[in-house]
Amino acid sequence: MDDIRVVELFAGVGGFRLGLEAASERFKVIWANQWEPYQNEQFAFSCYTRHFGTSPSHICADIAKVKANVPEHDLLVGGFPCQDYSILKKDAKGIEGTKGRFWWEIDAILEKRRPKYVILENVDRLVRSPARQIGRDFSIILRCFYEKGYAVEWRVVNAADYGCAQRRRRTFIVAYHNTTAFYRRLAEDVCKQWLKTMHRYVVTDGIMAQAFPVHSFRKDYFDQWIDELIFPSMHDVTERQHARLHDAGIMINGRIYSLEVVPQRIPPIQLKDILERGIVNERYFLKENELPQWIYKKGAKREIRKRADGSEYVFTEGAMAFPDPLDKPSRTLVTSETKLSRTSHVVQDLLTGRLRTLTPIECERLNGFADDWTAGMPDKMRYFCMGNALVVPMVTKIGNIIYKLNIR
Ligand SMILES: C[S@@+](CC[C@H](N)C(=O)[O-])C[C@H]1O[C@@H](n2cnc3c(N)ncnc32)[C@H](O)[C@@H]1O
Repeated sequence: MDDIRVVELFAGVGGFRLGLEAASERFKVIWANQWEPYQNEQFAFSCYTRHFGTSPSHICADIAKVKANVPEHDLLVGGFPCQDYSILKKDAKGIEGTKGRFWWEIDAILEKRRPKYVILENVDRLVRSPARQIGRDFSIILRCFYEKGYAVEWRVVNAADYGCAQRRRRTFIVAYHNTTAFYRRLAEDVCKQWLKTMHRYVVTDGIMAQAFPVHSFRKDYFDQWIDELIFPSMHDVTERQHARLHDAGIMINGRIYSLEVVPQRIPPIQLKDILERGIVNERYFLKENELPQWIYKKGAKREIRKRADGSEYVFTEGAMAFPDPLDKPSRTLVTSETKLSRTSHVVQDLLTGRLRTLTPIECERLNGFADDWTAGMPDKMRYFCMGNALVVPMVTKIGNIIYKLNIR
């Protein structure tokens, strides 16, 4: 069987590559790009080359400057930088923001190379962004794919629903070009029965439904055309589109069908099963004098706060479990893990019973990387890379379906 030539964008420490290689040795990364803006030392790229070798096709440069060099390939993958869609950022601007612009780098590569398959990963909010014009950004992405001859499936999936150790909800997008047998079969079927076929692909026959099986679905569905009859230009999509897209969907020939699905759950790994069992370095343990701050950060609040202009408002938030329960999968890892903040995990050490933050190895395990995958960089950067990375087995599940299709 032929190799499947993969281009990995926004490669980070190689989550996509690891996930695909675990699915089949037919996946061969022929070009990879990773560059962290505003950093002299490129920790993620160094980690990538430490594991996958130094090569002229592993490039550490701004994708905007090197995208013209992307070679012909069969599968394009990437978890594009997502802060502008993220709920963690208050003034998120969506596809117009500085980080949102990365979609346009991907779009330019699609325009030039038209790979047969594409797999992308982003935050769950991507399908509804931006808040003031819901669903506009994802509609723009769908329209771009449509204009280049692709069908698109998407699912917002929580890794813990499919047997992983972390509750991490992410949007996965799979697109296939009209030159593939998979696309042609779908296109023939939709010609006969539009909605029934789209529904069947979302719940059973599509790549996403095979990778992440569906237990049941809600009856309300979203059905809309995004083609040039309804929106003559991309400008019209940008100006007029509002779309309450659901967490699962498909687009082919400019028509979108989307609905809410319930996953066929695989029991998750519990937090206690990934914790280190031996002696953990003292630096990870909570300091006695910081305990009141941790309790405050994690606790329920109702307090008067001041805005920048001096006006006052009542701030409220509920209490969080403190420490994090060990009989459940973890919450979503964040790039600032271990910082004294509400979002950092705090666990009860298995050996001593004392409270501590997660170690870098535990973060690697929560994402399905091998122990010490990111060793060699400062702890702070190890947490940063794991907060950015994806849950590797989720990619393997998609890869398992794709490599069986006759790609080349
Ligand atoms: C969401 S992370 C993807 C992480 C990756 N999937 C992994 O498993 O580690 C996005 C990555 O894009 C990189 N990045 C940001 N701006 C970039 C640019 N202009 N060119 C290339 N890479 C960039 C970031 O450094 C980060 O590693």
